[in-house]
Parts: sequence; C-alpha cells; structure tokens
Amino acid sequence: MTRSPGAPAPEWIRALDLSKSYPVGGGLFRKPRKVVRALRNVSLALRKGETTGLVGESGSGKSTFGRSILRLTEPDSGQVFFEGENILAFSPREMKRLRRRCQVIFQDPFASLSPRMTVRDILCEPLDIHNIGGREERTDRAAELLETVGLRGEHLRRYPHEFSGGQRQRIGIARALMPNPEFLLADEAVSALDVSLQAQIVNLLAEMRRRFSLTMLFITHDLSLVEYLCDRVAVMYAGTIVETAPADELCRSPLHPYTQALLSAIPRIDPRRKTARLIMKEEGDSTGEAAEGCVIAGRCPCARKECFAESPSLRRVGDASEHMVACRCVS
Ligand SMILES: Nc1ncnc2c1ncn2[C@@H]1O[C@H](COP(=O)(O)OP(=O)(O)OP(=O)(O)O)[C@@H](O)[C@H]1O
Ligand SMILES: [Mg+2]
Repeated sequence: MTRSPGAPAPEWIRALDLSKSYPVGGGLFRKPRKVVRALRNVSLALRKGETTGLVGESGSGKSTFGRSILRLTEPDSGQVFFEGENILAFSPREMKRLRRRCQVIFQDPFASLSPRMTVRDILCEPLDIHNIGGREERTDRAAELLETVGLRGEHLRRYPHEFSGGQRQRIGIARALMPNPEFLLADEAVSALDVSLQAQIVNLLAEMRRRFSLTMLFITHDLSLVEYLCDRVAVMYAGTIVETAPADELCRSPLHPYTQALLSAIPRIDPRRKTARLIMKEEGDSTGEAAEGCVIAGRCPCARKECFAESPSLRRVGDASEHMVACRCVS
C-alpha cells in the first residue's frame, strides 16, 4: 500500500535496543545447556495510522518483539517509548491504561478461550476487564461489531465450535475492536487459514484499519501477505532486523540477500516482478549463534570472508531514504 506524499506519520511507539534471551535445554536440577537470543538489540518505530509488517522465518523473534512492546513478555534490556515515556518503567496501573488502547489478534483466538463461553461473552470480555459500559451497551456494541466484520447479531448466542476458521477469525477481530483500540498486534492472524480465506481476512483488516484509524503490527512468516496490507516492512532473522523499508519499495527492490531469498520464493504472476531464485543454504546455522559476524553469514550464498568477522549494523541506504539494511555487501 502506498502512502500519499508528504511528511511521514508521527511515531506511535518506538522500541530501542530491545534484547531478550531464553535459557533452553536445562531441567529442574540441571543448568540450561544454552541460551536462545530471541531479540538482539532490536530497534523499530511503528508510525501512527500505519501497518508495519514484521516478517521472518519461524523462531526469528517476531512474536517476542510484538509481545515485548506491550510488555506481555518482559525484555531483558532496552527501552520502549510511548508518547515520550519508557513504558518499561510504567506501573501496573499505567500499563493497564495503555493495554486498553492496544489489542492482540492471535492465530486462533479461540484456542485460549473456554468453549463454554458464548460469542457474546467472548466479545464482551475485554470490556468486562476494563470495566467499560453497562451490560446492555456491551451487548449492543458486540452485535454492531459482529455486523461490521461480516457476521450477524444473532451469532452472539452461539458457541465457538459452531463457526468455521474464517468466521472464528472474524470474531477474533471483532473482539479486538471492542474496547475501541488505537493499536492492533496481529500475530500470524491469517496463517492457519487457507489461501482464499487469508485474502478475505487481510482485506477485512485493511478495511478495519482505515475505518478505525488503527496503527497495526502485522506479524507473519509469509512475505506475500505484506505487500497489500502494510505500509512498512521489517524483516527479521535470528533476533535481528536485517532490512526495513516502505512495503512497496522492499518488495520491488529488496537489498538484503535474506529478503531477496524470501521474495524470490513467492510465485509471481506479474512478469515485471520476476526475480532470480535465490536460495539460502540449508546446512548453515539458522540460529545465528555460531557466527561471530553477521547472523546469517553461515547460510548466505553471498557471504564474504569479512561477513564472518563483524556483525553489520542496520544503516540507511541513501541520504533521504527510508530503506535500511544490515548487510556489508550492499553498497
Ligand atoms: N517462553 C519461551 N521459552 C524458551 N524459548 C522461547 C520462549 N519463547 C520463545 N522462545 C524462543 O525464542 C526464539 C524466538 O521465538 P518467537 O516465538 O519470538 O519466534 P517467531 O518468529 O514468532 O516464530 P514463529 O513464526 O514460529 O511464531 C525461538 O528460538 C523460540 O524457541
Ligand atoms: Mg510467533
């Protein structure tokens, strides 16, 4: 999606140098065998009213990042600025106030909910938690939002198992919209759906974003989904952001070999968008742990000797450009 020319939108939230590690492989009486670095000094700003796509393969740290900026996971270090304040220093009460303005859509929102709750109760739960409105108002809003996402008010009395996957995700979106949030974190919100349903839900998210002026972080492992929905994209690998750019630019002229590999794997109908197939080496390290230098050097078909020695930082390509890449081979 292209933005109209002019000044960039102001920042809604900014993460600065976020790091998070998890110990793995230990036991009750044994020390952890190793540490997974889920986030390594990740900095990223999400702009107001924009949808930012966060893309990368499984285990690259996308969910950890999304959860960290809302403190659903506590980062080990770094800062998250919201309206000029570092939210990592917020009190529980301040956090609760911020969370009311933010909602999350998961891959399957019903997986964590009681199958004995009606759709009405599922939708009204965020308002119950934040004590917003009376019972009748809550029910009215739930019915209205069900219609907005393409379902019917009478569905309020039904139970989750009575719906298809696509309908369930529509209910998940309606639930997230209930407290009138400013920010949506959509974590693999369409990954469990088949391709035609994915398109419908992505369209619905795009419409909701326009209608409610939402800022969104759209997390996916599928780069083909971001071009239509997102204004900006950040590509993650092994806990680092390797490239970030406006979505159309990133899809048109990807610079990082990893982004090129992800894009070249997408079947294209448009012959002008044809890219040479670039394949990352399978046998290399995919955790970034072995490499002293660039996290992806072990798998990168373009890696030079120096890529193994020093890790590249994210740098701007061109003076006025919003395109940033962490690769020493890109000039
Ligand atoms: N609670 C946890 N305990 C231990 N390790 C974790 C935990 N959460 C995440 N990790 C590890 O941190 C790394 C990043 O995980 P994360 O879930 O953020 O990746 P992801 O990019 O969202 O992957 P996916 O696409 O599979 O959802 C992975 O190696 C994962 O195994
Ligand atoms: Mg995830």
